[in-house]
Amino acid sequence: MTTHAVTLIPGDGIGPEVTRATLRVLEATGVRFEWDEVPAGEEAYKVHGTVLPERAFESIRRTRVALKGPVGTPIGGGHRSVNVTLRQALDLYSCLRPVRSLPGVKSRYGDVDLVVVRENTEGLYSGVEHTVVPGVTESIKIVTEKACLRIARFAFDYAARRGRKKVTAVHKANIMKITDGLFLECTRRVRADYPQIEYEELIIDNCAMQMVIRPQRFDVLVMDNLYGDILSDLAAGLVGGLGVVPGANIGEREAVFEPVHGTAPDIVGKGLANPTALILSATLMLEHLGEADAAARVRRAVDRILGEGKTITGDLGGKASTDDYTAALIAAIKNG
Ligand code: NAI
Repeated sequence: MTTHAVTLIPGDGIGPEVTRATLRVLEATGVRFEWDEVPAGEEAYKVHGTVLPERAFESIRRTRVALKGPVGTPIGGGHRSVNVTLRQALDLYSCLRPVRSLPGVKSRYGDVDLVVVRENTEGLYSGVEHTVVPGVTESIKIVTEKACLRIARFAFDYAARRGRKKVTAVHKANIMKITDGLFLECTRRVRADYPQIEYEELIIDNCAMQMVIRPQRFDVLVMDNLYGDILSDLAAGLVGGLGVVPGANIGEREAVFEPVHGTAPDIVGKGLANPTALILSATLMLEHLGEADAAARVRRAVDRILGEGKTITGDLGGKASTDDYTAALIAAIKNG
């Protein structure tokens, strides 16, 4: 049996608590890991004087896969966010956010199952901004053929490998004819290689409305950085919020799997944290490592325990501690 070497970043706040729970769940699957735990975030800053010690980079470059809890950024002092630094330094160009209704989690719909694929490296997030003259500012949206082609390829490839039926390219090319026009031109070129997958193009504002009214019509969506940032949170809102949604940032070589929520300073150390988002991020990691069967078992256990609604954490309306919920998941994995 393969042992997977993976970098582990427990992070700050509730990070270590949800990480502990996730490791117990992963252990119950029987998949073998060799964890290389590295510091990052506020705690790392206190000890090492930097939020992202070089050792963390070295580890991820070596293992190529990281499981990461939420991290805080020290306020003031011009510290760069760990998340942004990691994405840029490792060129994690694709942000993957599968959004699925979970049994027992109160939300507007019970049958959402879509995936937002967001371009992570350019667009309006390139940070090229300046004041032209006082009172007039400018932000430059950079869109390259290379980045558009690779994100489109990622989305179609993902759809093809997962047996998904449709890719929706989200844009505003009616207004930004050149930049979003290039994005569409690239998705159409890539699309030609995937005739079995249905393809459609939707203007971002229409897409936002349709996601609220009829999210079931979507399968895989691909879009630029800013649109993806906004629509992936909208999508999370459709299934119960950021607390239960997993995420991944994936590049040509490395991939970092992480939940979307933050360090939850208000509940640290109280045993109240819900580890579901990190556990589901770990299922994406399992799939990435070729352990799809273990991923499916964990997902089934999450569905079962949340669906039963007896052992769920406070944020979902229950009374269970992180440990109780984790124990229930482990029992469900072992029994089925
Ligand atoms: P947050 O997500 O940490 O908390 C918002 C609310 O949701 C809080 O009431 C919290 O208790 C609750 N919550 C979040 N995750 C939960 C969980 N797993 N179980 C139960 N309840 C949960 O967002 P906030 O307060 O805006 O940010 C706090 C810190 O986290 C900041 O320092 C921020 O920079 C950092 N952050 C880090 C992220 C990352 O590393 N990916 C993402 C977002 C924020």
